[in-house]
Amino acid sequence: MSANQYVLEMEDDVLSRVPFSRSARDTKLGKAFIACRDNVEFTRDLADESMKLIVTSPPYNIGKKYERRTPLERYLSEQAKIIAECVRVLHPRGSICWQVGNHITAEREVVPLDVVLYPLFKQHGLFLRNRIVWHFEHGLHCTTRLSGRYETILWFTKSDDYTFNLDPIRVPSKYPQKKHFKGPRAGQISGNPLGKNPGDVWVIPNVKANHCEKTEHPCQFPVELVERLVLGLSDKGDNVFDPYMGVGSALIAAVRHERNGYGCDVVERYVQIAASRLELQSKGLLRTRPMDKPVYDPRLRNGGH
Ligand SMILES: C[S@@+](CC[C@H](N)C(=O)[O-])C[C@H]1O[C@@H](n2cnc3c(N)ncnc32)[C@H](O)[C@@H]1O
Repeated sequence: MSANQYVLEMEDDVLSRVPFSRSARDTKLGKAFIACRDNVEFTRDLADESMKLIVTSPPYNIGKKYERRTPLERYLSEQAKIIAECVRVLHPRGSICWQVGNHITAEREVVPLDVVLYPLFKQHGLFLRNRIVWHFEHGLHCTTRLSGRYETILWFTKSDDYTFNLDPIRVPSKYPQKKHFKGPRAGQISGNPLGKNPGDVWVIPNVKANHCEKTEHPCQFPVELVERLVLGLSDKGDNVFDPYMGVGSALIAAVRHERNGYGCDVVERYVQIAASRLELQSKGLLRTRPMDKPVYDPRLRNGGH
């Protein structure tokens, strides 16, 4: 079955399950469809305008174990190919979230990948809605420059009419009891009782050794980061796609919130881990860091937990 047929058939057949086998190129697990394939090839099989949310983190071309360092121009031309395919399969009301950090050149110069990738999205006429800063505390301790402690998510939409659900992603207000002090609503609570807009700076722990989601993948998404995007930028029943799936964190967030997840990766071992994590998720046994858990604060008793 091609992934394209799968888009058409999924609605009627979401509960059937094909067990993962090492030789399977395309595997269906409940509401998730995963494959050990190159992403341009995989995406070509997907129907036009079928994906409401495409959320991904490509290799940064810094020599991680799943990538080969290439000249920046070549890296960008490879990115341009998959971005073009993603734009084709993006729903008219859909969003693309491209999460990146820095590329480091041979001369140890820092190249912010969002800056060099931005034109590749703009050439397709996409609209940037936010450049989200993801801040975390753990990572390499640099000795010749300041240690990097944030990455970014470029959130683009295909049009001016796009899915955006603020209520499910509100966070607790700092002063929930604050009241209007004058005017016709004086004395009434001024903020939204459901909480406030999470803003465009997200403080979410990255997945390092002590994180409960850690697998052997060197740079996984924290599931809670993708959950916020899934809840905010898609609706139940929508299709969510990660063309650089890794160990399936984006698909886990998607199926957990009753969306259909699609993903591919070229490393078979990662696809296998994604399959087992999705299986645990379907049984309610996958441990992830809850979205509402406060970040550990050493100044507070018990880290504030
Ligand atoms: C930054 S990691 C993404 C990790 C993922 N967000 C997760 O939570 O596990 C990038 C992934 O892209 C995969 N990859 C690299 N080139 C690819 C290609 N052409 N097609 C599909 N996957 C690719 C790598 O194997 C790696 O797992």
